[in-house]
Parts: sequence; structure tokens; C-alpha cells
Amino acid sequence: MRAISRRQVLFLGGFGVAGTAAGGAGLVWALTSRQNPVTGRELTQPPEERSANGQLQVRLEAAPGKIVLAGQQVAALGYNGGIPGPTLRVQPGDVLRIGLVNNLAQATNLHVHGLHVSPEGNGDNVFVSVDPGETFDYEYKLPVDHPSGVYWYHPHHHGMVADQIFAGLFGAIIVEDLAPIESSVERVLVISDTTLDGLGNIAAIPEMERMMGREGDLILVNGQSNPQFSARPGQRERWRIINACVARYLRLRLDGQQLQLIGVDSGRFPTPKTLAELLLTPGNRADLLVTTATGGSVLRAFYQDRGTMERMIRPGRGTRSPADQSDGTALATLHVSGEPVASLPSVPTQNVPGDLRAAPVAARRQIILATGMNMGGGSMSFTINGKNFDKTRTDTTVSAGDVEEWTLTNAGPMDHPFHLHIWPMQIIEENGHDNDQVIWQDVVNVPANGHVKVRIAFKDFSGRSVYHCHILDHEDLGMMGAIEVR
Ligand code: C2O
Ligand code: CU
Repeated sequence: MRAISRRQVLFLGGFGVAGTAAGGAGLVWALTSRQNPVTGRELTQPPEERSANGQLQVRLEAAPGKIVLAGQQVAALGYNGGIPGPTLRVQPGDVLRIGLVNNLAQATNLHVHGLHVSPEGNGDNVFVSVDPGETFDYEYKLPVDHPSGVYWYHPHHHGMVADQIFAGLFGAIIVEDLAPIESSVERVLVISDTTLDGLGNIAAIPEMERMMGREGDLILVNGQSNPQFSARPGQRERWRIINACVARYLRLRLDGQQLQLIGVDSGRFPTPKTLAELLLTPGNRADLLVTTATGGSVLRAFYQDRGTMERMIRPGRGTRSPADQSDGTALATLHVSGEPVASLPSVPTQNVPGDLRAAPVAARRQIILATGMNMGGGSMSFTINGKNFDKTRTDTTVSAGDVEEWTLTNAGPMDHPFHLHIWPMQIIEENGHDNDQVIWQDVVNVPANGHVKVRIAFKDFSGRSVYHCHILDHEDLGMMGAIEVR
């Protein structure tokens, strides 16, 4: 357990006033009974908002509050009072309007991660800042050929992204299929991590952990700690999984069940891919079919070595903690019993995004992700092409309509998951090996001392946006660049 810090009192400031009015001086929130995470409850789904007649209009209020997390009441941040916020279900071609109400004690804004929409004006514009007490009306017009799949929303105010997500601000967006994929049940599983202090507040994070990329003590599914749910044998479930952790890589297994991956991010495979293990870096999403087998299984997250700064600071120390090497962390428990259900028709062949491997390339660029030690102290620099983020500087200028090839190079000892807004990336080559499949993602892991080649079609939209490391502490520390397509 951690002691409460002054920083954190400031962080949850608006709520602190209410908390201390009833409680003792200096406390942000005092729980009546402080317990360990409550596990084994029935899995819940976030509330859903669904588009009708080509439109979805929602109000999202970001506010501090007393929110149930891991079965306990904690002082956290939520959209519309919940963690996660509501799931937004839209169709290709829809207009999504979100009125973001900022009732936090600090500035925020909104990013619709993975959506292929305009970055300008009141679109997916991360340069917007919404001050406390203000409302901002976002409007996103999805193209009619927008890829179906799993997306998500979260704040993107530079310098505060990791803290605001860690405190509870995130939610799912589903772009529905035009040709439905039959399943007996669909579940949204938003995986996040956080740490609570002894008083039931979101813990403050020391500088050193920020530089590493914070990993919370609790890994939660829809804000719950190891919830459970039931199915009958042979049931085909559709799981929409989001890695909403600030920095944690999720290596997921569900042993004994059949897993078939429809796609990752906006990318799809023509036919579902059978797999035993699924790696989601922060920001990635999976669209997964689970065919259930009697007995059930535990969804577990296993430790993934994403490199460590410690190797640089104290060479020879490679791993994080022995506990991470164990048999993983139980995220959710699936019980399967009863009469088998009839099997469903096979999944229709999916529309796969185009293939840029043979496309003419208008420009080739190097994107170098680097960390370095600052002089005279323990702090580090986080840069892309040698520069720390500056929102007034445009780092990359692209001609609208061009296909470019970017070589993403990681010169350091830690992996960095690279995210480009608006335009997805096709992974062409990883560490010198050509990809023989068509793989599209919007977060691409660039391994420590490795490189990845991607191609991007800068089509449909122009405007200014960003690319960055999706270890959101790294982004907040400056590992981000601005791009303008014109
Ligand atoms: Cu999910 Cu720029 O981020
Ligand atoms: Cu990083």
C-alpha cells in the first residue's frame, strides 16, 4: 500500500473537497471499510448506446466520483459515472456526435482510437483542450467503407493521458459488421490496470515507474477483478477485447477453449485464425471468437518481457519481478456446463483491407524512437527522431493520397508500441523478415533494438494529427510527433 501524496490530492482535487467535508482533514476519500479486491462476481457489461438512422448522439461527462472498482468503492474518474464508460455501437457511414462535458479539476479532451475519421476541427482533433467546467461537441463522420471492428475512446490531453486513463477514463466503440457474424453471445471485455492506495484512491505514480511505463497492481475486466460467467458447451461467443492499460502488455490465454481471431484493431483476416495465445500491446484490440468446451477455463494474462530501463541503469538486471514469471494473472473465469448447443454456420469470408505491398511508395521515412539519460540526474528523455513533443511544431508533412513507407526503429532497451492516429498501418517487415500476410494495425510493437516497416495510405482525410508511443507515460513524457497531411 502506498501513502497518499500531495500530488494526488491535487490530482483528484475537485473530489477532495466533498470527501474531506465529511471525513478527517487532509483525506481525499476515506473508505468506511477497506478490503481487498472482490473477485468472483458475475461479469457485467458497460451500458450501451447504439446508433439509429445513421446517427448516435451521446453525452460523456468526465468526472471524479465514488465508483465501484474491483468490487470496492473508490475515488476515481469515470465517464457518466462508470468504469468503463458506455460502449458506443455505430455502423459504417454513421455520424457519431459526442458532447464531452469536463467536470474534472483539470483539462481533458477525447480521442476515438483507431477510427478513420477527420482529425480537423471538432473531429478527432487531439489539439483541442477542454477546460474544467466546459463542454466540447465532437462530431465524427465515419466513411461508408469504414472497417468494422473494435475501437475505443480515451482522453488525449498531452501530459495527462496516462493519469486520466489510469484513473478510469476509457470506453469501447464497436463498428458493427455489415454482414453479421453469428454468435450466441457477445461480450465487451475492456482490460485495464490500476493501483489503489490505502484509502481507496487511485495511487500516485513515482517518476521512475512513469519512465518504465506504469503497471497497476490490479488488472481488471470491465472494472471487475476476476469476474465469472457461464456458457453451455459448443457455444460460439464473440469477445471484443481492448487493452486499455497504460503500459502493460497482455499475453492472453484461455486454455482448453477454442480461440479464433477475426482481427486485430481495424485489420481483419479473410477467415478466422486459430490461436492459443494472443498478445495485445497497450491500445490494441482483438475481435475474438471463443467456442466453449465443457469444464471452462480461466482467462489469464501472462508476463510479457517488454524490456526494461533497468538494463540500461543497472546492466544485468533483466526482469521485472519474479511474480511476473508465474502462471499469470486470472482476469476472468468461464464456466462451461450443461447440454451442448447446436453449432452455428461458419463465419462469412471477411472483407480484408487492401494490400500495399505492391503499391508505389511516394516517400520513405525513418521514425526513430529513443530514450536517453538526461545530464545530472535520474530523469530520461523520450524522443522521436531526437525531438521531444512540441504541439506547435509539425514533424512530418505528407501529401494527401500518398502511400508512404515508414521504418520504425527502436534504438533502446524497452519495447515501444507505436500508434498513428487516423490512418492505419500495414506491417510489411518485422526485424528484417517480410510479412507474408496482410496485417493491418493501428498500434504496432517496435521491439527493443528492433525495427518494423509499415506502409500507410494517407487517404480520405487531411489535417494535423499525431503518432506516439502507446505506453502512455512515454507519450506524456514526449515520445510523440505531429503529422500534417495536406
Ligand atoms: Cu489510444 Cu493517441 O492514442
Ligand atoms: Cu514507449
